[in-house]
This record gives sequence, C-alpha cells and structure tokens, in this order.
Amino acid sequence: MRNIILIGFMGCGKSTLGIKLSFKMRRMLVDTDKLVEQEAGCSISEIFENEGEEAFRARETDCLKKLLQSRQERIISTGGGLPLREENRALLHKLGKVIYLRTKPETVWERLGPDNNRPLLQVPDPQAKIEEMLAERGPIYEEAADVIIDTDDRDLEELSKIIMLRSGFYSGKRKKYRSK
Ligand code: S3P
Repeated sequence: MRNIILIGFMGCGKSTLGIKLSFKMRRMLVDTDKLVEQEAGCSISEIFENEGEEAFRARETDCLKKLLQSRQERIISTGGGLPLREENRALLHKLGKVIYLRTKPETVWERLGPDNNRPLLQVPDPQAKIEEMLAERGPIYEEAADVIIDTDDRDLEELSKIIMLRSGFYSGKRKKYRSK
C-alpha cells in the first residue's frame, strides 16, 4: 500500500506536517492518536490513567490493523511510541512508506515546552526525560524508517517538498501529464 506514514518523537512535527501534506497532496489525514481516542471514547491521558500504557499500545496496534483494511491512500501521522512494538513496525511497512522526522532533543523541548497532554512527560525534569527517551528510541525509529529526514533547521514547506519528492509524488504527476 502507498500510504505516507510519519513517525518520530513527540514534538517532531508529525501532526502539523501531516495537515500540510494532506492539503498539498489532496489525501486524507489520519492521526493514530485521534483514532485511538475516538475508539476509546476518552483522551490519551485518560487511557494511560485508567488502562495503563500497555493497553494504549495495544489500541495503537488495533488501529494500524484497521487502517490496513482500507484501500484508500492516506497520510498517516502516528503517536511517538507507536513504532516501539515490533509488530507495529511490520504493520507500518505493509501500510506504505515510513518517514522518520528526526529531531534533536533541544528542538523537541523548544517546540513542546511544558505540556500537560503527554502523560510520559509528566515528570519533574521533562527536558532530561526527552533526552533519555530519544537516546533509547532513536535507533528504533531509524530501523523502522524507509526515509529519514532531519527537521531541526527546516520549515514545514521544505519538509513537505522533501517528503513529496521522496515518495514519488512529483514524478507520478509528470508521468500522468506526459501520457495525455
Ligand atoms: C507518546 C506520544 C504521543 C501519544 C502518547 C504516547 C509516546 O503522541 O501517542 O502520549 O510514547 O511518545 P505524539 O507523538 O503525537 O505526541
């Protein structure tokens, strides 16, 4: 399948870039966090609080399985921890092209700041936690990705162009034009 899937740490820009790509490529955007919340009927913070992180991760896996049943090509923006499960990484590859938005911890902190909506960052020193989690997760994101893009010094416009180029969007358009 030819979905475009955005993975990466919290605050790397998956959601905002997802909106931009969805507009430019005229594709529907699916955000796995929102899908999980819809299915559960409550917020991510509430799922973590009432059911725990493992249950949340299982919900993410269910969400990917549902997306695999659809034939529509979409932009899929994922929760930051979704690629941690091996099963999810395999599902992501079945779904399409996996783009890792690699971002330095200091940029993540700059973008997020103190944030009440992310249960894993509700700790006394969120900045140190971001560094620690990124060091752990970085290699997993890299392993899961078909394409790695550094986001730190790039704006949304540049990032969306790179992704469209790397996913063959422009060449697809040209081919169509020539065949007329
Ligand atoms: C998480 C990232 C969050 C959300 C949940 C857990 C993580 O999504 O899925 O709070 O483990 O990194 P965003 O990356 O969209 O913030």
